[in-house]
Amino acid sequence: MILVTGGAGFIGANFILEWLRNADEPVLNLDKLTYAGNLETLASLEGDPRYAFVQGDICDKALIDRLLLKHRPRAIVHFAAESHVDRSIHGPGDFIQTNIIGTFSLLESVRAYFGMIHEDERSAFRFLHVSTDEVYGSLAKGDPAFSETNRVEPNSPYSASKAASDHLVRAYHHTYGLPVLTTNCSNNYGPFQFPEKLIPLMVVNALAGKSLPIYGDGQQIRDWLYVTDHCAAIRRVLEGGRLGETYNIGGWNEKPNIDIVHAICDLLDELRPRADGKSYREQITYVTDRPGHDRRYAIDATKIERELGWRPAETFETGIRKTVQWYLDHAQWVANVQSGAYREWLERQYGARGE
Ligand code: NAD
Ligand code: DAU
Repeated sequence: MILVTGGAGFIGANFILEWLRNADEPVLNLDKLTYAGNLETLASLEGDPRYAFVQGDICDKALIDRLLLKHRPRAIVHFAAESHVDRSIHGPGDFIQTNIIGTFSLLESVRAYFGMIHEDERSAFRFLHVSTDEVYGSLAKGDPAFSETNRVEPNSPYSASKAASDHLVRAYHHTYGLPVLTTNCSNNYGPFQFPEKLIPLMVVNALAGKSLPIYGDGQQIRDWLYVTDHCAAIRRVLEGGRLGETYNIGGWNEKPNIDIVHAICDLLDELRPRADGKSYREQITYVTDRPGHDRRYAIDATKIERELGWRPAETFETGIRKTVQWYLDHAQWVANVQSGAYREWLERQYGARGE
């Protein structure tokens, strides 16, 4: 069995759903259920004997120690984090607590566990740390894309906290011989993403007749990857990645934010035209820029392609169409997330959780 942390969030949930579509190996999902955790996303797994959920905090070392001893996972895929840059600007404390202290606490539990399992379990064991391209800082126009040997130059409290956790993971490999793997991925999009992030926020605001806030001049560049391609890459790294190595993951899909928002508006004009016949582009509003806003991210994914044969299956055009259609088809999921009704739903469905 594998232990997934943060499996009720956007990427973790997509990862678990994909994992159980592709393999029969059971998954234990440990998630604190912050505002970003949503068990409704995993409702299709209810009653599936291959899946179990525990509500808990990665900072709760006693709980993690107990879970490791009881379930003896052969791998841990660590997604749990505070993930939203704007929230980290508003209040960095939770980012330091979960992303740095939480990862440290988890590593301490894993170190103890790794020290006591049998030799054959030890050689199969992996700790895969899911991180971000934001640790590399910002690129200027014309700079080569981020490779694994780039300097780490984080610029937001979020990226600094992720960089710190990457360093800890690396140190636990070099110092204690923990069999770790780290992935640094570009911007994800797709089903089940919380509508605070650019793409779902724009879809949801457009449909609600609200403004589409573009920070600054809208010319910041991000490198977009459809979430199931990220999940497939993580599976490849887990299977074949070299211990202690870092793998950059990206879709070769650099686009300015304004182009993303135009693409969303054009798809909505086609799939759900406005009643007044005007384009959703009319709702675009330029607003004050994000403080410390990184100008450009771009991932050089040559290493994972060459060593592990991974390539993204979706282009931006196929992925964004699927995503916009998904949000059109799942208005209730969005409404529940926004109203907090999914918290009531999970109380009704699952009652008290924990071990
Ligand atoms: P998310 O915010 O949607 O989900 C995070 C999940 O972690 C939530 O379910 C939340 O309840 C859980 N969590 C938070 N604090 C916890 C704690 N202390 N203990 C246990 N669970 C806790 O995030 P996401 O977008 O799915 O990102 C997942 C991981 O991937 C993060 O580590 C993030 O840094 C990384 N990442 C994200 C992207 C992206 O574009 N979203 C890109 C690259 C890397
Ligand atoms: O690069 C990977 C990172 O991508 C992940 O590590 C983070 O967890 C994830 O949140 C994401 O970070 P970003 O800051 O790039 O994502 P966000 O969706 O917040 O913003 C994408 C771009 O769009 C960014 O340049 C800011 C801009 N933006 C965002 C919002 C929410 C706007 O112009 N308007 C908005 O309302």
